[in-house]
Parts: sequence; structure tokens; C-alpha cells
Amino acid sequence: MTVNDAHALRVVVLISGSGSNLQALIDGVATDDLPIEIAAVISNRPDVLGLSRAANAGIPTRVLDHKGFASREAFDQELMRTIDSYTPGLIVLAGFMRILTPEFTQHYLGRMLNIHPSLLPKFQGLHTHQRAIDAGETRHGVTVHFVTAELDGGPAIVQAIVPVIKNDDATLLAKRVQRQEHVIYPLAVKWFAQGDLRMLDGKAELKGELLPACGYQIEANEP
Ligand code: GRF
Repeated sequence: MTVNDAHALRVVVLISGSGSNLQALIDGVATDDLPIEIAAVISNRPDVLGLSRAANAGIPTRVLDHKGFASREAFDQELMRTIDSYTPGLIVLAGFMRILTPEFTQHYLGRMLNIHPSLLPKFQGLHTHQRAIDAGETRHGVTVHFVTAELDGGPAIVQAIVPVIKNDDATLLAKRVQRQEHVIYPLAVKWFAQGDLRMLDGKAELKGELLPACGYQIEANEP
């Protein structure tokens, strides 16, 4: 599907950094695998690589630097105004490193996704790879979930599981997890765009069936 297809789901992607997950979505659109139009990419940090990735793909970019706002509420209000000016059907948080206000999460309830690098509900918050190693986990991974007011707490959609290997450090493990991020985020976005995925009564539903609390699980078959 081309980016100008009138029927494609309009998506706004929020980033704060490198944008490798954004790139996976851009690549999915370019290869006609993803029936979406990335209407805009918005970053809360200037000069990040993700903005160049978007610009290279011809996607409109905006920078909304949170440092210029007096409060979290003021920033989120302006962010909502900016997002809504693109009339998206889906908001994708792709490494967007901000805690969101309840007004913001409520406004996009059921149409905002996040990716978190752990097998939620384990390891909410930061430094997930090191924490998984320190806890002696043998399995680790990544979760795509609907965003609710609870940080990293909304209903899970899909999880990819990778092994934790002896002598792993956080960098090695992060790379193994990130390869799976780039598989499952486009997959979840595709499900949503096709109308197969929705949030219902605080739970994720895929193709008419409620998903388990861990979401749809994929065991990654690479080391
Ligand atoms: C990813 O590891 C994602 O799981 C987390 O932030 C990171 C973003 O990476 N939420 P990138 O900006 O997509 O490369």
C-alpha cells in the first residue's frame, strides 16, 4: 500500500531517540507489508536519529521539546493538539521516553500502542536487560501493549521471548531483544490496521478472541 492510499490507517509515531522501531514500520510500509500511512513523526528531543529516518522516508516531522514547557500537563496538552492535527487512527510510541498524564492516556485509550523491552508484567520501568540478567532469568523478551494510565501496565498484545545465554551482558541481550522488537511491533500495528486487534473492557482482543494476560506469545528461534 502506498503512503498516499486514502484507505490506509493514519498513524502518528512518537519517538525520543534512535528510531529503529520506527524504521521497522517505515520498511513495512515500503514493502507493502503494512497497510498504514505514517502521517507524522513527533520527537520530544531535537536532533535524534529517528527524525532523520523519518525525513529520509519523506514523512513530516515535528519536534516538541518538553524542556520548553512549564509542566507535564502543559506539554501533554500541546502534544495532543499536535498529534490530533494529523487525525491519526493510531498512535505508536516507539522509544518515547516520557511519563504520560492520565488525560493523555485517556484521550487515546484503545488507539495507542507501546513497546517495552521485557516480558511484562516483569521488569516495568528502565534498565530491563540488566535487571533480567541480575535476576537470573533464563528467558527475557519484549512486549507490545495498549497504553493505559498505568506505566507499562496496559493489556499485552504480543510478546517475543528470547533466551538469556550464559555470559550475556545487557548490550548483547538488548540486541537479541531488539531484533524481535522489529518483528513484533510491525505485526501488532498490522493487526490493528486490518481491524483484527482492539481493546475491549481493558483487555486485548485479537480476531474476536480475548488474548491471555501475556498476549500472543512468539518464541524467537534465533540464539
Ligand atoms: C526500544 O528498546 C524499546 O523497547 C524501548 O525503547 C527502545 C527504542 O528504541 N521502549 P528505538 O528508538 O526504536 O531504536
